[in-house]
Amino acid sequence: MKGEPNSDDVTWNSREVAGFYSGETAGWREVLGPGMHYHFGTVDPTKQIDDAEAHFSFAIRQLYPWIPIRSKVIDVGCGWGGPARMLVDERDCSVHGITISEVQAQEFAARVPEARVSVADAQELDFEPVRDDADVAIMLESLTHMPRPDLVLRGLRPHVGRLLIRDYVARGEIGSTNPDWNMRFPSRVEIREQIKEGGFRLEHEEALEIAWETSAGYWLESIRRAFPVFTPEGQFKTLQQLCESIIHHGPPEVEIMTFVAE
Ligand SMILES: C[S@@+](CC[C@H](N)C(=O)[O-])C[C@H]1O[C@@H](n2cnc3c(N)ncnc32)[C@H](O)[C@@H]1O
Repeated sequence: MKGEPNSDDVTWNSREVAGFYSGETAGWREVLGPGMHYHFGTVDPTKQIDDAEAHFSFAIRQLYPWIPIRSKVIDVGCGWGGPARMLVDERDCSVHGITISEVQAQEFAARVPEARVSVADAQELDFEPVRDDADVAIMLESLTHMPRPDLVLRGLRPHVGRLLIRDYVARGEIGSTNPDWNMRFPSRVEIREQIKEGGFRLEHEEALEIAWETSAGYWLESIRRAFPVFTPEGQFKTLQQLCESIIHHGPPEVEIMTFVAE
């Protein structure tokens, strides 16, 4: 199957991904800040470059041209509800979040009580929550965690009008894997192929201007604040290492792109 990655590449399963996102919510709140966004910011040219929270929000507002006001949105890999909160407040959308993590779902429900949230593995074809049809499915830095993107996209196809993916793409022609993060980065060619195989027609794609250093600096500073004495472990340690690498050596060998398909 073309959408299926080389099995040698992928060494994780959804349970491990759920574990990564199931640390204490209080810790994540401290580290991610009040918006609870867990994606890199996109540079908002109207704001100071060090205004990380503005760039996190701008990353969502940049998608608004493809998310009509009052539309029904399914947010696949919805995190703790940061993007959903904005879609309810600023676009009057009705949102259904899907996450693999029970702990995230609890925080999502508290943060966005107007929305629905379900705990499910998005790779399970025709998974129950998606039977709730939507105008737009958004996937923000989540597809990258899913070893079988083909299953996710084919599962969504009958239930959504439009698909918005904002995610990491390998620079160059060959995809790569980061086992520390349980992530796979497809090449541009590969992700276009996955979208097509999923039954969608690509309408637009765009490489984004990412606020790499600003986002990394913000998370690093909050990790230092959250762990003044103890060394962070688990997911916070992984994040700390990534942020330090970005600050000292520059952005990683990936770009972040938006793909819009119908
Ligand atoms: C980097 S976070 C992004 C969170 C959110 N989209 C945001 O931008 O703030 C990745 C998200 O993907 C979710 N995820 C990863 N694998 C999943 C799967 N197989 N099924 C459903 N959700 C998954 C995680 O639970 C997490 O919420």
